[in-house]
Formats: sequence, structure tokens, C-alpha cells
Amino acid sequence: MKITVVGGGFVGATTAQRLAEKELADEVVIVDIVDGVPQGKALDMWESAPVEGFDTKVIGTNGYEETANSDIVVITAGLPRKPGMSRDDLLAKNTAIVKSCTEQIMKYSSNPIIIVVSNPLDAMTYVALKVSGLSPHRVFGMAGVLDAARYRSFIALELDCSVEDVHAFVLGGHGDTMVPLPRYTTVAGIPLPDLLPADRIEAIVDRTRNGGAEIVAFLKTGSAYYAPSSSVVEMVRSIVKNKKKILPCAAMLSGEYGQDGIYVGVPVKLGKNGIEKIVEITLTDEEQTALNKSCEAVKGLIGSLGV
Ligand code: 2OP
Repeated sequence: MKITVVGGGFVGATTAQRLAEKELADEVVIVDIVDGVPQGKALDMWESAPVEGFDTKVIGTNGYEETANSDIVVITAGLPRKPGMSRDDLLAKNTAIVKSCTEQIMKYSSNPIIIVVSNPLDAMTYVALKVSGLSPHRVFGMAGVLDAARYRSFIALELDCSVEDVHAFVLGGHGDTMVPLPRYTTVAGIPLPDLLPADRIEAIVDRTRNGGAEIVAFLKTGSAYYAPSSSVVEMVRSIVKNKKKILPCAAMLSGEYGQDGIYVGVPVKLGKNGIEKIVEITLTDEEQTALNKSCEAVKGLIGSLGV
């Protein structure tokens, strides 16, 4: 198993570190355009291996030759948000970056699974699909696991309970229109609406929608990376171990949820072949309307991409 992480910034490097520490691959390659940064971070990580106890080799490089024959590629390259920016403000610059990274990857790996993390997420995943020519089952985006993790962490704080007992998922695009679903959120099997009043749930949903911006406002010079890297590694683990976990991911829809030809966050089964199934759940009219609105926002972005 060989995994390439494109982008050696905070998200990319933390992802590589988590992959190595969990020994999810024989080799993790970090590729970045900045001379010395991927090499330095990878070497530093590898030097932690004797203490942490992992044998995953970590390699840093500026060229794509070293990424040859990757089984999985995680694309984190791109500019992060600054305070006051929306994810959509990154569209033009990150389209060019994701396009170029995908082209380079495809020169050296013939049939990788590509997981996109760069923002605006749903649109960047679409770029990677079009440029790579891979099957949609092998190109998808990380957002729902992160949004659900934030939602679950806030619920656990509110109820003063274990995060492990909180199960939730979030539908829709990774943006202000994401659709957290309280009806499908449970704490040790108990539906959330039985445990919290509607106004508290609404406040948590709202904080989840703004979870990325909350971190950007604190950091000022970058965006979140601990929870995003954990989330993408959870997806990788389900693929590498063929666990077939059902996780919310940005997937290309072909009629599911009444949508066609766009990427949006829905529950999928992730196994060794990538997306093995898109799980359709019954939505109330209100939930479907919220999802449709989120899809319209993603369509607007995709329409202006020119790929
Ligand atoms: C986030 O939600 C950066 O989109 C990422 O933190």
C-alpha cells in the first residue's frame, strides 16, 4: 500500500503523520512545490518512527516521480481561507492547483483512488474527476466526516457524554448550506431530539455550519488541520482495511437524492474499491429542500469552473 499526500502544509503533513502512526501504508509520500519543506517534514516524521513505533516509510519530494504507483492519493494542495473569506472565494486559484496536481498524479499512477480535501471541496472534487478521467467511485471528497465530527464533538460537550456514544451525519455541500440531520443523530442509540430541546440543537447545528470559520477566525493565517486530517484518515482506513464503513463523503450523484452530475455530501460505503455504494435515506420535505439548496450552491460553483 502506497499513499501519496499532495500538499505538505498543515493538513497534508498532519495527514501523513496520522497515516504513518497508524501504519496504514508501507510508504507515505508527501509532495509539495516548496523546496525542502516536504523533505524536511518527511524526514522529521520518519525520525519519530523509532519512538512512536511505526515502520511506514515517509518520503518528501518536490517531484511526482516518487508518487509512482500510488494506491491512494489525498489532495490537500491549495490556498486556505483567511478570516472573512468563504471557501468559495478560493475557487479560481485552487481549481488551477488541483488541476495541475491531478494531471501530475495521473502521469505516474494509472488507477489510484483520489480523495480531495482542497476547498471549495465539492467543486475541487469535480475538477479532480474530470481531469483524472477515473471512475467516480474512485474520486471523492472529504468533508462530511469532518462536519459530522465537529457536530458530534459539540453534542458531547453539551450533554457531557462520551464522543464515542455520539453518532451523526451531515448531508450536503461543505459550506454554509450543509445539512446536519438531528433526526439521524443518536447518543448511545437514543435520538438527539429526545435528549436536547430544539433550540439547543439548532444552536449546535449552527456552530457546526460555521465550524471551519470558527477555527479560521482563531488562527488568522490558515484553516483547521487536526480534525480535517483525522477525518480523511478515517476514510483511508475504511478503504485500506476494506472495512466498508458508512461515512458521509462528497460523492458524484447520478440520480440519487434527485440529483445528477454533481458532487455533494451523502452517506457512502467505503471499501477497497472506493465508494462501493451510495446509501439513500428517506428525507422529510424540509430536509430534501435544504439538500436541494445545498446542491444548487455546488452547481453554481461547478458551472463556473470551465473544466
Ligand atoms: C474546514 O472546514 C478547511 O474546510 C475546512 O475547516
